[in-house]
Amino acid sequence: MIDTKVNIAGVEFKNPVIAASGTFGFGREFSEYFPISKLGGLSTKGLTLRQREGNKGVRIHETTGGIMNSIGLQNPGIDAFIEEELPFLNSQDTVIIANVSGNTIEEYVISVEKLNQTEIDMIELNISCPNVKEGGISFGTKAEIASNVVTQVRKVCQKSLIVKLSPSAENMVEMAESCVEAGADALSLVNTFPALAIDISKKKAIFDNITAGLSGPCIKPIALRMVYEVSKAVDVPIIGIGGIMDYRDVIEYIMAGAWAVQVGTANFINPNACAEIIEGIEEYLQKEGISTLEEIRGII
Ligand SMILES: Cc1cc2nc3c(=O)[nH]c(=O)nc-3n(C[C@H](O)[C@H](O)[C@H](O)COP(=O)(O)O)c2cc1C
Repeated sequence: MIDTKVNIAGVEFKNPVIAASGTFGFGREFSEYFPISKLGGLSTKGLTLRQREGNKGVRIHETTGGIMNSIGLQNPGIDAFIEEELPFLNSQDTVIIANVSGNTIEEYVISVEKLNQTEIDMIELNISCPNVKEGGISFGTKAEIASNVVTQVRKVCQKSLIVKLSPSAENMVEMAESCVEAGADALSLVNTFPALAIDISKKKAIFDNITAGLSGPCIKPIALRMVYEVSKAVDVPIIGIGGIMDYRDVIEYIMAGAWAVQVGTANFINPNACAEIIEGIEEYLQKEGISTLEEIRGII
């Protein structure tokens, strides 16, 4: 008998596969492809206190081994999410994670206070956002700045708190340790890598904001190395993210020390990717005579 369940910060996931924020909307479109109750969990599109229209110009660009995006956190805002999207998500028998973004600490805190009043299972703090009070430098770059936002959110947060790390952190291990010390119950890593693409006939950057976030298979070996290093340094569960395309990638992340994973870009290529990955993990465990993920977690 194989058992793919995993418990992260008191929340039980039926399997380790979570749909990554920003690549699965609020689940409705994907529920036409497979029952989303099959998922271990779903992380919502990044939510902000107020509605956001997102960025102008090109928003997604395909590149070698991945995609680049500059969506600009388009979302309906926390209140509309709670009223219009959450009832559907809560009816789906999977772990629902609210991914929260903000440009100031106050915005993060008020958003989390609103989510405390709901049936959300967990909160994932996206700290890869520009901090407008620190001249636009990302909360996720310097450990002291990240620690400050996590500390303030922890004071009010009544849900299990995941902090999602940026690969732009000056020192990934130090960043992870600071976030745990400030109260993170779990860490997810990584977000997209800042990257650049140029249209040589227009002689201009492809994206209006010049740079954009790189994701997909091209980032996997780097993200995997970060998960490996962070999992050796902290005691909280790690959720591995970056370039997962099939079950083999998931097994690599588990062997590198992850408890669960998030699947992002793969959903754009194959809307059934998460369902197929879940089946692939079960078949692999069966074939290898492994009964729980714990047996292979962090064996590297
Ligand atoms: C189009 C797009 C939108 C995204 N939006 C968010 C977001 O709102 N919040 C967030 O924390 N991460 C967001 N991400 C990052 C993903 O959740 C994930 O961390 C990243 O894409 C790496 O995983 P992947 O290589 O499997 O895509 C987004 C990624 C993509 C491709």
